[in-house]
Amino acid sequence: MLAIAVMLNNYFHDLAVALLISSVALAWFLAKEGDKGGPVAHNLIRRVLRKLTWLSYGSLAYILLGGVVRTLAYRRYEWMEAAGRGQVTALIIKHFFLAILVFLGLFFLLRLKRRFRAINPRKLGEGI
Ligand code: HEM
Repeated sequence: MLAIAVMLNNYFHDLAVALLISSVALAWFLAKEGDKGGPVAHNLIRRVLRKLTWLSYGSLAYILLGGVVRTLAYRRYEWMEAAGRGQVTALIIKHFFLAILVFLGLFFLLRLKRRFRAINPRKLGEGI
């Protein structure tokens, strides 16, 4: 039972990363389209950006908490004897780049959200 819980937690640690990165990508696509749209599109995009931000915060919380649990279970459930201590180095290097990617993505998403909040929709022409 514990092994299944560890396996699921590992899976959700990965899934939460994918969810966060996908949210940032979607936010970017929406913002690009939003620049071409009118007040209706702007309003919709602003609301979706707010939801994507909360989804990303939730994902980040899970990534960090799930990561701690994963680390505690790592030696027992994921350690590969053949890879030896080198796998710890690989893990640190991998996380260095992944963490930069995630935090830059989140920063970018928050900037987009702020940008859309600052624009006055009444000043936009009628788009869609
Ligand atoms: C922004 C933060 C993080 C991101 C983007 C991230 C991402 C990932 C990804 C994608 C994997 C799967 C790698 C693979 O299967 O090859 C992974 C594995 C793992 N993560 Fe994280 N993680 C983050 C934070 C953390 C934290 C805070 C911890 C521990 C406190 C942690 C501990 C682990 C462990 C132990 C593994 C398994 C080892 C491995 O796959 O090599 N992670 N992480």
